[in-house]
Amino acid sequence: MRNTDMTPLILANATEAANAVAERIITLLQDKPDAVLGLATGATMEPVYHALIGAHRAGRVSFSRALSFNLDEYVGLHPTHPGSYRSTMNRLLFDHVDIDLSRTHVPDGMASDIERAAADYEQQIAEAGGIDLQLLGIGRNGHIGFNEPGSPLESRTRQVRLHAETLAANRTFFADARVPETAITMGIATILSARSIVVLATGAAKQAAVAEALAGRFDAACPASALSAHGDVTWILDSAAAPGARAA
Ligand code: GLP
Repeated sequence: MRNTDMTPLILANATEAANAVAERIITLLQDKPDAVLGLATGATMEPVYHALIGAHRAGRVSFSRALSFNLDEYVGLHPTHPGSYRSTMNRLLFDHVDIDLSRTHVPDGMASDIERAAADYEQQIAEAGGIDLQLLGIGRNGHIGFNEPGSPLESRTRQVRLHAETLAANRTFFADARVPETAITMGIATILSARSIVVLATGAAKQAAVAEALAGRFDAACPASALSAHGDVTWILDSAAAPGARAA
């Protein structure tokens, strides 16, 4: 079902919102077991992966024929570093479901030639036939993937420098608080190439970014506003992240 309007689905709390996102992924895999999933990291996604593991254990969904591509990865972090998005994905999802790790892709933040690794990533996505469903979170400053404010609409996978507020927000994921300052991320155009997009935002800290993104036109100051140019985006929010919500 195509969703051509940007009216968000607003659920009572973060768990219900995450469950609704998980159900979208489960339904897709039931209909199309070899679907290509675009996956995301961030604390917002943790309950989504928790729900997917539960559904897998209950025999409702299999990932064995799926392929996955994650949005981004830090540059210079070894995949075994607990803060890397590769190890995060393994820990939160891949190690607990029936997907062979060879079918999961995360940009190579350790490549000696990042530009080449970025071009290879775009090619791998194209060879997989493109992404069926891209899961997205949103940064407090409106970033998607690691496309910070100012990222061009036509950007593709590339190396980027993270903004100070993103480094601060992500510090909690690093025991030593040393967050890498650069990352490799799918670009805005890469994200918009997905056939469908599901955005999940929960918590009051995301409310302002969500409101800007839903304003209806692209403003480079809020990369998530680029999603208004896509014909099939579903926004799923909890009540705290919904525009106009008052602090509890
Ligand atoms: C990170 C990720 C994004 C994610 C965002 C929000 O920087 N690169 O893909 O959507 O931050 O993260 P959180 O869910 O922890 O707020």
